[in-house]
Amino acid sequence: MPVSDKQLFEAWMEVLTLSELQAGQSVTILTSSNTHPQTLAMASLAAQHKGAIVNRLDLPPVNGEKSLTRDLLSYFGTTPLTGNKAALAALKESDLVLDLMVLLFSKEQHEILAGGTKILLAVEPPEVLVRMVPTQEDRARVLKASARLRAAKEMRVTSTAGTDVRFALGDFPILEEYGFTDKPGRWDHWPSGFLATWSNEGTAQGTIVLDRGDILLPQKSYVTEPVTLTVQNGYVTKIEGGLDADLLSEYMASFNDPESYAISHIGWGLQERAHWSVLSLYDREATTGMDGRAFAGNFLWSMGPNNEAGGTRECACHIDIPMRNCTVTLDGEEMVVAGKVLPAGGGKA
Ligand SMILES: [Fe+2]
Repeated sequence: MPVSDKQLFEAWMEVLTLSELQAGQSVTILTSSNTHPQTLAMASLAAQHKGAIVNRLDLPPVNGEKSLTRDLLSYFGTTPLTGNKAALAALKESDLVLDLMVLLFSKEQHEILAGGTKILLAVEPPEVLVRMVPTQEDRARVLKASARLRAAKEMRVTSTAGTDVRFALGDFPILEEYGFTDKPGRWDHWPSGFLATWSNEGTAQGTIVLDRGDILLPQKSYVTEPVTLTVQNGYVTKIEGGLDADLLSEYMASFNDPESYAISHIGWGLQERAHWSVLSLYDREATTGMDGRAFAGNFLWSMGPNNEAGGTRECACHIDIPMRNCTVTLDGEEMVVAGKVLPAGGGKA
């Protein structure tokens, strides 16, 4: 159901306050053909209300002719900033960029962040934004779990469905998503509420069995029967099962890139206001699936690029897979047990 302008304005005011936006700072709102008009209007009004200098930068979409889906997070590679020096200059000169289009990770984005500009992505429908206005408590829980993850040498994930996979850790940074940008150079995504890191290159080993109800993104579908993925030396080497496995295999093969099968980010969800079932209630094109990525107690893993973490792998294909009912341990200590987050993993005590 829709939300009122007042509700969305107040949500933006809260997020801009949490993001420590000060009067006189420059805010650039990045838009494209997919930008929601109510989100744009209320973001602009709230930033002006904060006393910021507000710009809008509208960029044409890219990659549409190459991607097999309309999903905004489905095709990585060039972005509207590739070779676009004027846009890059405007963004680098901004204190805060509100990304209402999805500027996917790229060297240009790293360059903007390196200069101290904050970037906040917000593209979910207005009512989803309002339902998941971030809080300081969200941040505290993500940071608590993050400190534990940072100290870990190995993540192991198991499930009664048959998953048993190990990832060596320590070579890559931690991605802490809590929905606002309170530090210079910080990127975040509203709504979110999860943490992730990247498996050391070539180390992931084992078997991942997707069970009924586990989510595939950008497919935005729930698996209806088991899909067994064999993981060897950091890559998925076999995808077996029924129709769901066939659809995933064919989609990934369409990129014709062996790097698509590399293990990418791994972590777990902490957002109590995100719900597993939401994806079943929306048209596929209405959402990017953040409820699925963030719901508390999921094990979220992915295949594809690691350049957002400072790695060298840039590939167009990226699959996010939130799983239910998994047990996640760090160096033998349980963080999530059968889909329930323990306090050690950032869960509520
Ligand atoms: Fe991802």
